[in-house]
Amino acid sequence: MNQTGVRIAGVGHYVPKRVLTNSDLEQMFDTSDEWITTRTGMKERHIAAPDEPTSDVALGAARAALANAGLEPSAIGCIIVATVTPDYAFPATACIVGAKLGIQGVPGFDMEIACSGFIYGLTVASSMIRTGVFKRILLIGAEELSRLVNYDDRNTAVLFGDGAGAVVLEAAERDSYLGSELGADGTNPTDLYLPVGGTGALPITAEDIAAKRNTITMNGREVFRFAVTKMIAATTHALDSAGLTPNDITWVIPHQANKRIIEAAAKRLDIGPERVIINIERYGNTSAASIPIALSETAAAGKLKDGDVLLFVGFGGGLSWGAVAWRWSANGKNGTRA
Ligand SMILES: CC(C)(COP(=O)(O)OP(=O)(O)OC[C@H]1O[C@@H](n2cnc3c(N)ncnc32)[C@H](O)[C@@H]1OP(=O)(O)O)[C@@H](O)C(=O)NCCC(=O)NCCS
Repeated sequence: MNQTGVRIAGVGHYVPKRVLTNSDLEQMFDTSDEWITTRTGMKERHIAAPDEPTSDVALGAARAALANAGLEPSAIGCIIVATVTPDYAFPATACIVGAKLGIQGVPGFDMEIACSGFIYGLTVASSMIRTGVFKRILLIGAEELSRLVNYDDRNTAVLFGDGAGAVVLEAAERDSYLGSELGADGTNPTDLYLPVGGTGALPITAEDIAAKRNTITMNGREVFRFAVTKMIAATTHALDSAGLTPNDITWVIPHQANKRIIEAAAKRLDIGPERVIINIERYGNTSAASIPIALSETAAAGKLKDGDVLLFVGFGGGLSWGAVAWRWSANGKNGTRA
């Protein structure tokens, strides 16, 4: 079997223009900037326009990542979109993104594993490149969770936002993929789910819509406990599989669900806050998009150096979790690209 390494050749992100602030939410229901900030770390989130589907925010991130890699869309061999908010139940949003990029004929598929989507996608895409199936893959985490939020439910309405982040993965002599851990437990899927609209419930009815059962429903305290536990376990196992320890990590780039979740897990892992990327205050929880958005901002800020060890870690609906240990390879170095 053809065995090669993989690297990130480019990264980018895109968020819709409209910003929903904590003070906007104060006008909508009984909440306060103080409550939201202290319980979640969030201040603002971006909200897609009605005529701006997930494929459009995905496209914005894809173009930014391609520009960052210095590549044309025609260089891409496969498109993967991690999302739980596709344009349609089917076809896959990746197919639509391919057409919007003008690369009809390129294979594309979606991965639906909620907030763990980027971690699963990175593992799958890396495997396909390392085994020689594709030379370059465009991996996009793209979400419009605002479409699934019940803005009468203060327990969930403050948490979610829209956006997309993308990476161009390509074959490379030096392997950036160091190790990973993926997990899922569907015993209690209703801890974080969309009650109607799928086949797990009877067909959606007018009463369901009136009762807003077609919106995100969550057992917040349970998900909080799960998230801290799995963030620690996934990080530890991914590092073990790479033969590394928390000391070896240059940057932790975690899923941005709640600042308190991230801080509690980092503390237990003995990773100082100066090594943890948090941008939740500006985006809220953008599910599969949050890690690549955070990576894109970190790269754009010039914080990443060749050889840095990154630890991506995510968790969410499923319940599902995962982490990937990754060696950053700076543009133009050690890649196979001419
Ligand atoms: C949702 C979450 C922020 C709630 O924080 P918490 O500290 O657990 O708060 P609690 O659930 O204990 O609720 C405390 C009180 O605040 C209230 N409250 C909930 N949302 C509120 C809001 N937006 N504004 C003001 N009060 C609010 C609750 O009604 C409750 O009041 P009560 O005690 O009178 O019933 C937290 O549980 C969490 O982040 N869970 C994980 C969610 C998550 O990450 N989901 C996605 C995973 S990918």
